[in-house]
Amino acid sequence: MYPVSQCSLELIERAASSLLSGAIVAFPTETVYGLGVDADNQTAVARMYAIKGRPTDHPVIVHISSINEVDYWAKSVPQFAIELMRKFWPGAMTLILPRSDKAKNFITGGQEFVGLRIPSNTIALNLISSFIKKGGHGIAAPSANRFGSISPTSASDVSSELGELLDKEDLIIDGGESEIGVESTIINCSRALPRILRLGAVTEAMIREVTPIDLDNDLNEIRVSGSLTRHYSPKAKVILDREAKPSEGLIALAEFPTPAGVIRLAEPKTVTEYARSLYSALREGDTKGLQTIVAITPKGEGLAAAIRDRISRASA
Ligand code: TXA
Ligand code: MG
Repeated sequence: MYPVSQCSLELIERAASSLLSGAIVAFPTETVYGLGVDADNQTAVARMYAIKGRPTDHPVIVHISSINEVDYWAKSVPQFAIELMRKFWPGAMTLILPRSDKAKNFITGGQEFVGLRIPSNTIALNLISSFIKKGGHGIAAPSANRFGSISPTSASDVSSELGELLDKEDLIIDGGESEIGVESTIINCSRALPRILRLGAVTEAMIREVTPIDLDNDLNEIRVSGSLTRHYSPKAKVILDREAKPSEGLIALAEFPTPAGVIRLAEPKTVTEYARSLYSALREGDTKGLQTIVAITPKGEGLAAAIRDRISRASA
């Protein structure tokens, strides 16, 4: 296990300086933990990709701390994108925008777009703004897991998954459990109307209150690894919506009883709790060495739809 560092103002300052000198800093956000590096530093970005095992043609989100910083990374920002930023930043929303010449191929996966997000978690925001005050422009951070595996929602998840691959200059900042537990909503803003590429806590209904959206199903418009059919997967086989049998794991709302001999991995009382506990429950299934995890998916729209999306990819 790689040591995790308890958060303090001194630690945040040190982490911001480490990022500027090319180190990797894993940090908490309200969605999941990110594996952060200086988004202008090609060598650091390459090391982060290698640690994640991520193909270099998959782009990474750049995290900033204020709307003023968008112009460094993006050009031609449409009015609806500005409105979305005003409404949902800081928060669980990533916007894909036409890139500026500062957003290099090594963070955009060679595509003409850049992904930007201002997270709301205070540790994340402090880290990013301290990094920017010291001369940086943005922190490139994918979820801090190996490519295709489950996103981490605690510092110890990061440590157990990637700790062996980190160097002594790198840091894992402990900010407790991620509040939301599933990754940000991704919205493509490179066309006439916004289009949702990945579901998250900023829901379709919330977005529609700000702007009409594009429902056109043009599937190969942009590569988003979170939209690969198999993603967010544990080692155990994940099966949806059938009765769990003895020695299988079970994830379901608390209203579903646990059949005899079944190992209950999570019994959230609400959809919000379901999202928060989902990834740690899948991880626990692996820790316990279970062969099969049954998930009873929550009904309804909004966050429930994001949960169904992640579980169905985990089961693919
Ligand atoms: O909640 C989140 O979004 C977390 C936290 C750490 O911010 N990050 C996250 O990053 O989930 P990652 O890399 O695991 O997933 C981001 C997704 C990927 O599927 C990537 O392909 C897509 O965003 N993405 C990033 N930049 C993009 C771009 N320029 N064009 C298209 N897709 C992009
Ligand atoms: Mg990810």
